[in-house]
Amino acid sequence: MNTSQTTVGLLGCGNVGAGVARMLIEDRDFINQKLGWPLSLAKIAVRDASSRRPWTPPRELLTTDPYEIVGNPDIEVVAELMGGIEPARTLVMKAIASGQHVVTANKALLALHGREIFEAAAAHKVEVMFEAAVAGGIPIIRTLKEGLSANRIHYFFGILNGTTNYILSRMTREGLDFATALAAAQKAGYAEADPTFDVEGFDAAHKLIILTALAYGVLPSLDDIHVEGISRLTPEDFHFARELGFVIKLLAMSSRDQEGRLEVRLHPAMLPQDSLLAGIGGAMNAVHISGHAVGDILLNGPGAGMMPTASSVLADMVELARAARANCSARVPALGWCRLSDERPKPMSEVSTAYYLRFTVLDRPGVLARIAGIFAEKGISIAQVIQKSAAPGEEAVPLVMLTHTAAERDMNAALKEADDLDSVIESTMLIRVEERCAARGAA
Ligand SMILES: NC(=O)c1ccc[n+]([C@@H]2O[C@H](COP(=O)([O-])OP(=O)(O)OC[C@H]3O[C@@H](n4cnc5c(N)ncnc54)[C@H](OP(=O)(O)O)[C@@H]3O)[C@@H](O)[C@H]2O)c1
Repeated sequence: MNTSQTTVGLLGCGNVGAGVARMLIEDRDFINQKLGWPLSLAKIAVRDASSRRPWTPPRELLTTDPYEIVGNPDIEVVAELMGGIEPARTLVMKAIASGQHVVTANKALLALHGREIFEAAAAHKVEVMFEAAVAGGIPIIRTLKEGLSANRIHYFFGILNGTTNYILSRMTREGLDFATALAAAQKAGYAEADPTFDVEGFDAAHKLIILTALAYGVLPSLDDIHVEGISRLTPEDFHFARELGFVIKLLAMSSRDQEGRLEVRLHPAMLPQDSLLAGIGGAMNAVHISGHAVGDILLNGPGAGMMPTASSVLADMVELARAARANCSARVPALGWCRLSDERPKPMSEVSTAYYLRFTVLDRPGVLARIAGIFAEKGISIAQVIQKSAAPGEEAVPLVMLTHTAAERDMNAALKEADDLDSVIESTMLIRVEERCAARGAA
């Protein structure tokens, strides 16, 4: 260990890496003041040294060979900010095997290969820190890992993807359809040219896996959680949500049910308009956590972007520099638990929620009674119905129902039967309703 400074190397100088390089250079004196010694940027690996970047670091720092950083005994901390699985995974594993501490912003890597990475880090007595991997600039990892370490977490609900939250906010506010709201998000720089990963929920699901590990000591596999995106939502559903007193959000949720079984799921959900998460608009992220001792808390802030994300990466670097200097690495286990459990979340078919259902039916007498009969047979009780008459010249009308809590298995069986009726002419829209998000103690 170099005693006069802590040296860091960056793998990647894109949106996040450029912000980190900028802070390491422009805020050098401030960080030195906080830390007591310099955090020194030794090298930055990129694919093409001549590419344009959001911030341009000194040319002499750039290399196209990541092994000038990984395995270099003069570099103590390696920040993996390239993204993707390979070569990121190989480089992280090699850095760990060489005794280098790792900071990463790569949620996909940790969600899919976290166990192997954290086990290797423990075996080599180095740390892997990842504050930037979930919710960008919001210090959610430290909050769950340390701030709430004495709490049994009842549940957390998160808005963990800025792209989808921006799209849903535009659909809510302006009544846009999905395609128009997506195009607006792309124009504003909030959505990629290929938005599939965000809009179909996979990015948020990776973050949900990481937060679940911190909250419950269980690192679920992607196959074990229900993942559903936002592309099938229509302006009609936003209209009815407002009429019923709800907003629609893409919600990442983990909770323990009354029998103590773990539920982990990611899907669009209707939340009460007065819930803590309902007002989180635009590209912002937020997490509502309920702990047995602390009660309910809300963390809210920028979930992405060059400087907010760099803020989290720098926080990890400062902590690693301190830990290395004090020779107390692995002070807190990577996920905050001394060991991970092999528990698997319960299957989605066993989850129970309330539901919003929008049937598209022929405007004929007796349709509501037939559908209600099917639901009654399955033991699903209906809380509210909105039935509109057909406009002149139109035969199809929306029929909206809110149900009380029912098991997903019963709901799927009831919907299959209902959708087979001749008078139901499109497959029914189902959105789960999450009343638990309601603001407690609200005036
Ligand atoms: N963007 C955000 O706001 C944000 C927020 C939170 C977390 N993250 C995560 O942070 C990571 C980086 O995201 P980003 O948006 O900064 O990505 P990005 O803009 O695409 O930048 C990726 C960087 O990695 C370099 N790179 C890629 N493959 C490489 C290779 N094989 N060898 C050497 N360098 C390589 C690229 O080099 P060139 O410049 O030469 O192409 C580029 O500098 C991802 O895991 C992402 O999920 C991003």
